[in-house]
Amino acid sequence: MNNILEIENLDVHFPINIGTVRAVDDVNWKLRQGEVMGLVGESGCGKSTLGFSIQRLLRPPGKIVNGRILYHGQDIVRMTEKEVLDLRGSKIAMIFQDPLTSLNPLFRIDQHFLETMFTHDKGLKKAEAFKKAEQMLESLGISPDRLLEYPHQLSGGMRQRIMIGLGLILQPDLLIADEPTTALDVIVEAQFLDLLADLQKKFNLTIILITHNLGNVAQLADRISVMYGGNMVEVAEANSIFENPLHPYTQGLLSSIPNIKLDQPKLKTMPGSPPDLVNPPPGCVFHPRCPQAKGVCKTKKPETKTKDGHLVSCWLY
Ligand SMILES: Nc1ncnc2c1ncn2[C@@H]1O[C@H](COP(=O)(O)OP(=O)(O)OP(=O)(O)O)[C@@H](O)[C@H]1O
Ligand SMILES: [Mg+2]
Repeated sequence: MNNILEIENLDVHFPINIGTVRAVDDVNWKLRQGEVMGLVGESGCGKSTLGFSIQRLLRPPGKIVNGRILYHGQDIVRMTEKEVLDLRGSKIAMIFQDPLTSLNPLFRIDQHFLETMFTHDKGLKKAEAFKKAEQMLESLGISPDRLLEYPHQLSGGMRQRIMIGLGLILQPDLLIADEPTTALDVIVEAQFLDLLADLQKKFNLTIILITHNLGNVAQLADRISVMYGGNMVEVAEANSIFENPLHPYTQGLLSSIPNIKLDQPKLKTMPGSPPDLVNPPPGCVFHPRCPQAKGVCKTKKPETKTKDGHLVSCWLY
């Protein structure tokens, strides 16, 4: 199967006054063309940083200090600004949590679409561009006459649909969705995830779905990647992550979510707190919180191995 994205030995740092935050630490990650990859892990583990790195959209002082990000074999890390600009939006799109701050309140919805299209294709005819925008709204399940409205006239769910439409209007093949449903209520969230699944098929998109909500990824993802403290600790088919989590952190993460099928009297919480990424613990970054840690875990970082079809970085295997 073709890989759309291959990340090799990626390190992303934020130099700050007290030291260097190692937000992404030696991450290796492959995405298959056309798959939905869920990216999960607790707050601050580096999910957004990884997402932003792929678009070279890191905010200062964030910096890619090592590694390669191959998109269809081309290294994004070493592209010129102009090459990255062409890629961004047209080939790789990103949608964020809060659609209201990403839409300009002074622009009608059609103006947002037209501007996006004209930026990448100056010769495009206005009537043609408008038609494309209308078709996109139909794919989003929104009546095309809403194109003439302003962002504040639309509901939160509709605005998030518009954001995804703006992301897809130039027909990218990779969509990075960073917590796209956090601002939505559960009903609208479910509709949005259905829409995402439809769009994925229609446009043969590869999607990175970044989320805290394991329910969302269970519904949509083909595979799931689990990050902890800047490290990619486990990657596997979604079913297999839920049925046979191998990394103790993945196990902890799963036992801390409610499961209506299991008779769970009480949810477990994970003891300890997330690692300090300025002074990460030696050895395996999870060892201070790991119920199964042994000697070697405290001194040597585990390599990534394949076990039961999972990629897992843990000394237990
Ligand atoms: N601009 C910045 N300056 C300094 N440190 C930063 C900056 N942005 C992120 N970090 C640090 O990088 C690490 C990773 O942050 P990131 O936002 O990628 O996490 P996340 O997994 O997306 O978390 P969340 O689930 O809360 O969105 C954190 O320790 C964070 O404090
Ligand atoms: Mg984030």
